[in-house]
Amino acid sequence: MKSNRKIVVIATLSLFVVIGIAASRPPEEKFKNLKVLPRSISEQTIEKVMEEFSKSLGVDCKFCHVQIDSTNWDMASDQKPEKSVARKMIKMSNKINKDFFKAKTKYGEENAVLEIRCMTCHRGEPHPEIQQVPEEKSNQ
Ligand code: HEC
Ligand code: HEC
Repeated sequence: MKSNRKIVVIATLSLFVVIGIAASRPPEEKFKNLKVLPRSISEQTIEKVMEEFSKSLGVDCKFCHVQIDSTNWDMASDQKPEKSVARKMIKMSNKINKDFFKAKTKYGEENAVLEIRCMTCHRGEPHPEIQQVPEEKSNQ
């Protein structure tokens, strides 16, 4: 009985030690290849941002990301040129917001307030560029 209790006490103490070590370690970075978004971004926020990108361009994840098979993805890969363009677009949007709208937050920050977003230009299209301003409609 007595030695049993000793084992329980030792086991409990070692559990506290293990928990203590785990808690004092810096949080592991969840994402491997972030160059523009904050590296400390939470899973919830990156999900929100990626949903926004997809909806704004009217595409799904594989427009920018490599799908390995029906269930596996390599989100960290930079193989798709669209992902590199998207990085430039994030930087551009952050810069427009900061320089022209005095925004204090950037894409990927918690509760970011942004005047210009992907949707402002893209409106559900991957290619929002227009070559010519449409002719004015006549008022007759
Ligand atoms: C328009 C392009 C685009 C679309 C669409 C897109 N992403 Fe991304 N995604 C990016 C870019 C760009 C990065 C890297 C950002 C950086 O470098 O900071 C990224 C990074 C990620 C990462 C982090 C990978 C790592 O480990 O570094 C995840 C996870 C991710 N995206 C998930 C998704 C999911 C899920 C979808 C679909 C709902 C999606 N993305 C749609 C452009 C896109
Ligand atoms: C100020 C307007 C504007 C904003 C804001 C903007 N884009 Fe774009 N984007 C464009 C234009 C214009 C093009 C077409 C350029 C070209 O291909 O000549 C484009 C092209 C792209 C492409 C390339 C599409 C392809 O088929 O290769 C991607 C990817 C993209 N944008 C992602 C984004 C994302 C993600 C955001 C938000 C972070 C964003 N854009 C914000 C104007 C904008």
